[in-house]
Amino acid sequence: MPLLSLASPKGGVGKTMLTANLAHELQRLGWQTVVVDFDLQNALRLHFAMMLSDGRGFAIPESLEAPWEELVFETPSGVLLLPFGTVAVEHARIVRQRLRHERDWLRLKLEPFLREPEVIVLIDLPPGHSVFLEAVSELADLNLAVLLPDATSIALLPRIECGEFFAARDGAPTRGTVRYVVNQLDLRRRLNRDVLTVLRTKLADRLLGVIYRDEYLSEAVASQRLVADFAPESKASYDIAALAASVDEMLMNDRQALARVAVA
Ligand SMILES: Nc1ncnc2c1ncn2[C@@H]1O[C@H](COP(=O)(O)OP(=O)(O)OP(=O)(O)O)[C@@H](O)[C@H]1O
Ligand SMILES: [Mg+2]
Repeated sequence: MPLLSLASPKGGVGKTMLTANLAHELQRLGWQTVVVDFDLQNALRLHFAMMLSDGRGFAIPESLEAPWEELVFETPSGVLLLPFGTVAVEHARIVRQRLRHERDWLRLKLEPFLREPEVIVLIDLPPGHSVFLEAVSELADLNLAVLLPDATSIALLPRIECGEFFAARDGAPTRGTVRYVVNQLDLRRRLNRDVLTVLRTKLADRLLGVIYRDEYLSEAVASQRLVADFAPESKASYDIAALAASVDEMLMNDRQALARVAVA
């Protein structure tokens, strides 16, 4: 049932890597996870051993009207994958128009997954602001902002904190919760240590996880594998499992709160 979005004002911070590997860890905790790629780069599939020449996905012209349950691929990890698809820039414009003008398009596409209580949908977003981010922010239960431990993150934080970044198409803040993940931490770098201290102070328990910089992550995607499978003893694998446990705990608490409201 829960819908998670992974986004960041900045590019190259690790959104796609985290969508894939976090989904795998949540799957190992007992959820059925579905990952959806909302980025024209169509890179999420690379973590799941999909052939580079396979351009299928929800955004290709032949699939745009199809129900999404018919378009997902079952990956070797058990995670269900819905790629963006290999599409021309011109056609991607049509998909954006669709999202902008047909207000219920995304909700109807996701509905079959969201009505299943044991299913989590994770959406990988393109960098920065986009109509994809606006449409997803309207529906998401949990919005994960991925930050690097650098000065830019401190500068961009107020835009996220004031509700402007995870805003819906009408500019209203997301209905969901916003939480943070710091990625690519290198404690040998003084600036990384200082920024982490600032973020810990400002965000407290809203900082849901910290992932260290770990070359196994880059090597895993180069081999088209998930890190828990490629390097199960790695620091990255441990950090992502810890993040998944925190996400799982949050979602279970939300679910219990909803059940209490229903009984009352
Ligand atoms: N913790 C990490 N340690 C080492 N390398 C990492 C880490 N996180 C991500 N990377 C590497 O950084 C690069 C960018 O990651 P990724 O593509 O997931 O970022 P992104 O935020 O999705 O980028 P974009 O904004 O272009 O969509 C990839 O090569 C990835 O393997
Ligand atoms: Mg990406």
